[in-house]
Amino acid sequence: MLVGAAFAGPFVAGCSVTGGDQGILGRKVPGQTGLMVLGASVPESFTVPLALPSMLRPVRTVGSTDHYELTVRPALQEIVSGVETPIWGYNGEFPGPLIESQRGRRVVVHTRNELPAPVSTHLHGGRTPAADDGYPTDLLLPARGWEHGHEHSGAISHGERDYTYPLDQRAALLWYHDHRMDFTGPQVWRGLAGMHLHRDDEEAALGLPTGEYELPLMVTDRSFGRDGRFLYPSRDPELVSPPGVLPDFANGVLGDVLLVNGVPAPFHPVSRGVYRLRIVNASNARHYRFELVPGPPGREPFLLIGSDGGLLAAPVELRSFALAPSERADVLVDFSSFSPGENVVLRNRYGDEHCSDVLLFRVGSEWGPSYSAPAVLSHVERLDESQAVRTRTFHFARRNQHDGALWPIGGHLFDPDHIAAAPALGDTEIWQLSSDLRHPFHIHHVPFQVLDNPGVDKYGWKDTLALGLRGSARVIIRFDGYRGKYTFHCHTYEHEDMGMMANYAIT
Ligand code: C2O
Ligand code: CU
Repeated sequence: MLVGAAFAGPFVAGCSVTGGDQGILGRKVPGQTGLMVLGASVPESFTVPLALPSMLRPVRTVGSTDHYELTVRPALQEIVSGVETPIWGYNGEFPGPLIESQRGRRVVVHTRNELPAPVSTHLHGGRTPAADDGYPTDLLLPARGWEHGHEHSGAISHGERDYTYPLDQRAALLWYHDHRMDFTGPQVWRGLAGMHLHRDDEEAALGLPTGEYELPLMVTDRSFGRDGRFLYPSRDPELVSPPGVLPDFANGVLGDVLLVNGVPAPFHPVSRGVYRLRIVNASNARHYRFELVPGPPGREPFLLIGSDGGLLAAPVELRSFALAPSERADVLVDFSSFSPGENVVLRNRYGDEHCSDVLLFRVGSEWGPSYSAPAVLSHVERLDESQAVRTRTFHFARRNQHDGALWPIGGHLFDPDHIAAAPALGDTEIWQLSSDLRHPFHIHHVPFQVLDNPGVDKYGWKDTLALGLRGSARVIIRFDGYRGKYTFHCHTYEHEDMGMMANYAIT
C-alpha cells in the first residue's frame, strides 16, 4: 500500500498543489506535461557517491550463446540515506544489473518472477523476434501463482521463461524494463529497469574511453514518503485493477528527486581526462535538457557521438542536449581543462529547484586519458524519401473522461488484437506523427530516421522521438528484421498504460 505522509515539505508553500487522494499531492512543473508527486523529503544534492550497476555475468556459454539468469523480486534498497525503500528489482536491484553483449553472440536471459504481480520484460532498442520482445500481454506470471486472471490473451508463462535475443544489430546502449499490460508505469517506478550495453567491431575500432572512463548512467525521478516508500498515485496500489493513476496525474507522473543509477543527485570523482557518458532517460514522464556548469573554457562541453541506435556518422559539439523518456545519448566530456578541486555539475535545465541537480563531477589532480574523436565515427546508411512505398499518419492526443483521461492514437485505444499498420518485410514507410501535448513516440524492433521535426535534435538512428506541444514530425522507417506483431506507443508510461499504444505487424 502507498502510505500518505503529512506533507509539510518546503515545496508546498506558495505552489499550486492539487490532489490529496491517498495523501498524494501533486505540483505542476513548468515545461513538463506530467504532474510532480510531492514527496515527504528531498535529500540534499551531491552528498552521496554515484553507484554503478552490478555486472551480470553469463552462467554458461554454449557456442555463440551466452546464458544469463535474472530473478525479478522485491527487495529493500537504501536510496535515501538512512531509510530502506521497498523496491521491485531485477535480481532485487534498482537499476537492474548491467548486461554487456557483443554483436555475433546471442543472449538468452532466463527470467524468474518472484514478484506478486505479472511482468513482461522488453529489451528497448533490441531487434528481437516478436515472441521474445516483451509484448504487453505475453505475461510472465508470478512463480507463486496469480489468481486474478488476465483479461487479454497472450503467450502466458508460469514462474519462469527464457528471453532470447539474437542481437544482430549495431552497438548501442539498450535498456530493459517491464512492459506489463496496463501496469508498466507503476512497475517501472518500483524499480524494473536496467541497462544493456551492446558492442560491435565498428565501435571497438574507435578506441573510445573504456573501463572507469565509460559511465553508464540511468536517470530517473522518484518521490518518497516519510517512511522511505516510493510514492506513486496508482488507482489500485495492489496493481490488480483498475489500471491507471489518480485523475490529477493522468498527464504523467514526475518525481521530486532525481536519481542517477538509483542514487539521489550523486557526486563522482573524475580525473582530468575524457569520459564517455552513456545516458538513458528511464523516467516515467520527465523530460530533461542536460548542460554542464561551469562549461569548459572556449568550447562546447559535450561531444555527442551516439544516440538511441548507436554511433552517429560524425560527432556533434553541443552546449546541451534534451532526452525525452527512453531516449539515450552517448557523449564525450573532457575534464582536462578544469582545475583540480573544481566541481562540475551535470544539470537539468528543464528542472526547477532541486530537480535541476543531476550529477556532480569532482575533478581530481591526476590526469586521465585524452581522446580526440575522428571526423567519421561510423557508417550510417541514410534512408531516402524516394524509397518509401507509403505514408501513414498517426495523431497522439488526450481524450477527456469524467475521471481523468484516456490516451488514444488516431482515435483508437490500445487493443492487442487490432493491427494499425501491416507493412511487408522490407517495406520503407514515412510516418507522419502529430501530437497535442508532449509525447515521446517509440517503436519497437525497427529503428527510424527523422526527416523533419522542427526544433528537436535529430541525429542518427532513433527508436524514440520527442513530439512536442502541438508537435509534428516525419520519420522514415524500414520494416526489416523479423516478421510478426510489435507495438509502437507513447513512452510516457501513464499514457501508454491508458491506451496510447498500437500494433504494427510485419507480414
Ligand atoms: Cu521502452 Cu515499448 O518500450
Ligand atoms: Cu504520451
